[in-house]
Order: sequence, then C-alpha cells, then structure tokens
Amino acid sequence: MTSTIEPTSGRDPACATPCGALRRPADLVRTVDVSGLVDARGGLLDRAIFTDEQLYRQELRRVFAPSWLFLAHADQFHKPGDFFTTYMGEDPVIVVMDKGRRIRAYLNSCRHRGARVLRADVGATRNFTCTYHGWAYDLDGKLVSVPNREGYPDSFDTDDWGLVEVPNVDSYRGLIFGTWNPDPVGLRESLGDMAWYMDAMFDHDDEGTVVVGGVHKWVLDGNWKLAAEQFATDWYHVNMSHASALMVLSPTKNPKTEIVHRAGRQYVGTNGHGAGFPVHPKNRFNAKTVHEWTDYDALRERLGDARVEGPLTDGHATVFPNFSYLPVIGTIRVWHPKGPDRMEVWSWTVVDKSMPPEVREAQRLYNLRTFGPSGIFEQDDGENWSEVQAISHGFITNTVPLNYQMGLGSEREDGRHPGTTSELYSDAAGRAFYAHWRELMNTPAWHEERNQ
Ligand code: FES
Ligand SMILES: [Fe+2]
Repeated sequence: MTSTIEPTSGRDPACATPCGALRRPADLVRTVDVSGLVDARGGLLDRAIFTDEQLYRQELRRVFAPSWLFLAHADQFHKPGDFFTTYMGEDPVIVVMDKGRRIRAYLNSCRHRGARVLRADVGATRNFTCTYHGWAYDLDGKLVSVPNREGYPDSFDTDDWGLVEVPNVDSYRGLIFGTWNPDPVGLRESLGDMAWYMDAMFDHDDEGTVVVGGVHKWVLDGNWKLAAEQFATDWYHVNMSHASALMVLSPTKNPKTEIVHRAGRQYVGTNGHGAGFPVHPKNRFNAKTVHEWTDYDALRERLGDARVEGPLTDGHATVFPNFSYLPVIGTIRVWHPKGPDRMEVWSWTVVDKSMPPEVREAQRLYNLRTFGPSGIFEQDDGENWSEVQAISHGFITNTVPLNYQMGLGSEREDGRHPGTTSELYSDAAGRAFYAHWRELMNTPAWHEERNQ
C-alpha cells in the first residue's frame, strides 16, 4: 500500500525555537544585488555566479530556502516509519511517513548540539535517536526522551525542542517536493505549464510510476547550475559532446544527418522551468524492450499527439531550481549544491508501475548504461561541467561574459505546446532560468522580511 500525500502546512521553521537573548546581527547576512550579473534580454552571464562564495551563500538563502525542492518519490514510503534522508540546498532533511501515513520532512539536525539524528540513507524506524547524547524524537518530530532530564531547569519544555519541520510538503504525480517557505505559492501553481510537460513522463496511465532499485549518488566538480541549466535548455551540446555515444546508438549509419538536423521545441517556463524535445518520429532511443511494450495508441489517447510526438521522446527537463529528468531514459535526478564549485548528483530510475518485471529491468539497465554515473552520455556531460568550472576562478577568465544568445527573440506561443516555446536549439529556457534566479536573488525571502 502506498501513501496518499496530503499537503502539509506548518509553521515558520525559524519560529519553532526559543531564541532567548539570541539576535543574529544583520552584518552576518550580506546581500549582493545581482542585477548586473545576468542580462537575460541580451543573453549574457557573468561567470561570478558560478564561482563566488558570497553569491553561493545568498543562493542558499534566497533561491533554495524559498523554492519547492524535490525530496523523494512516493514509492519510497509504504508504511509508517519508512524514511529517506536527503538535502534541501545544503540542509539535511529526513523524509518520513508518520503514523497517520502522512509524508513529513524534518531538518536532520538534533536540537541539542546539532548532530544528525538520522545517519542512514534509507530505512524504517520507530523514532529518531541521536547518537551523540541520546535525545530521541518520535515520527511527529516531538522530543520524547532526554537522558538526565532532571539536570535541566524547570523552564526546559520538551515541546519547545522538537525537530524543525519543513512547513510545506506536497506532491505532483508521485514526486514529493518540500519548501521551507511557510507561505508559498502552491506546488501545482508554481509548476504552471511545466506540469503538462511532466505528464509526458509521469502520467502514462492511472497506475502512475514507481522507483526501481536504489539511488545512485556521485560527486562532480562543477557548479550545480551548470547541470540544471543544461537539462533545462541545452539540446545544442548533444551533437558534439555525445557524438560517439550517438554513433553507438544511432539507428542509421549517419547520426549527423538523422539526429543533428532535427526539428523540435523548447518550453520556456515562467518560473525558471525548462524542457526541450525533438519532434522527429525516428528520434527515439528507447530501450528496445520498453519501446516494444509501450502502447503508443493508448498514450496518444491519454496525452494527445503533441505530447507523444514531442516531450515523450528524447526530451530533457529541469524543474527549477535543481530537479531534472529525461523521459525516455527513465531518470530523475537532483543536483545538490555542495559549495560553488561542487555538486552531488542523486539519480533514480523511475518506471510505469504497470510495466512487467522484464520491462522494468530493461529500463533500469538502459538508464544505467546511458545516464548512470558511468553511462555513455552522463560521462560526457560531467566532463564538460567540471572542465568549465576548473578554469572559472582565473581572474581574467572570470570577468569574460558567457554567451546565451541562441534563439534570442524566438520565444512565442506555437499553438501546439502550452506556454511560451522556442526552437529545439535555443538558449531561451536558459535565459528564463537565470532571469528567475536573478529575481529570487534580489528578493528578500520570508525569513529576511520577518527580521526587518
Ligand atoms: S547532539 Fe543530539 S543528543 Fe546531543
Ligand atoms: Fe548531455
């Protein structure tokens, strides 16, 4: 039995704690106006946004803390106590099914001296017991056991020292997201037209999707935005970066002819989301077993021709800021930020629940061989991001702007795909990604407004 994910709506996480005489001085939180670093209209970027430590700290506060961030897939939770530990930005969180079968998320940091209260990646538990001094919390995050409790003053109230809860958790098509913002725009609203494109991967039938296998995790040198941006906007690199992989997989002997000159569209999201997809009928590099099992007529019936011939093919997509997926490959992934120069990639294989075991296995292996950590495409991409990052700290290098001008002015409504779209080969979704990033970076988040 799987969970039904009720949206949670809790209190401001920073108000959950008695602060006593603590007052965080404003000087500790410095803010940079990033208006001059992103020229979305002209298609230019300043490389400081990939390298600067202060901008990175501001990103954690103003981009990650207020945004809806991917936490886990609903199929990872089947009974109360099932948990998965992950990150929101650099904040460690526990995602768990509580006794009422509700999915909740807590900051994975003990309220005593701050150790992680759960060190395992995944599993099932009745409570969370910190291994430092032994404070224990139940599945509701309440502090239920304190060794040497009599040593604390009468004013010490365990109700004040429960785990800090992620105030809003919600899901879309089995994908669970959370935000620290206590009063956010709803998840569905924040996705906007992106949901239509997501359905091409996550809504093939009434049964939905499930996860196959565990989570692959690997570390890459490179700023997280390089990966998120590429999955939002960049079909352009495919022909060059993946040339050798394409020759292996191409259905013809001439991949340059068959693959390079493809028609397609790119969705340019209003909230920084982006997706691109060829519309050529031959453009399917599905695992053969999956392709033969797929009932395309039923998909056309459910999703319509525009989706089956477009985003259901070899598309790429990013849900702002750092959740990406590839429909045909069956991968979903998060680009966790680990400082300005490093990211940690977490990748799942997701399949239709209705797939029989041999088809699931074919999809899992196909994902591993193409976009697993040693996959033939994944290695090409990781190499590029690390290469870009490796030289970005040079003083002169860092001051030379980057070009995002492909498809300038091409954005329009095309009458077939919802929202604004551009050409397949275009930087339009990239420009929109950075326009949204700039807006968030220049807007005080709820936690700053409270302190003003
Ligand atoms: S840090 Fe967790 S009990 Fe002390
Ligand atoms: Fe790629």
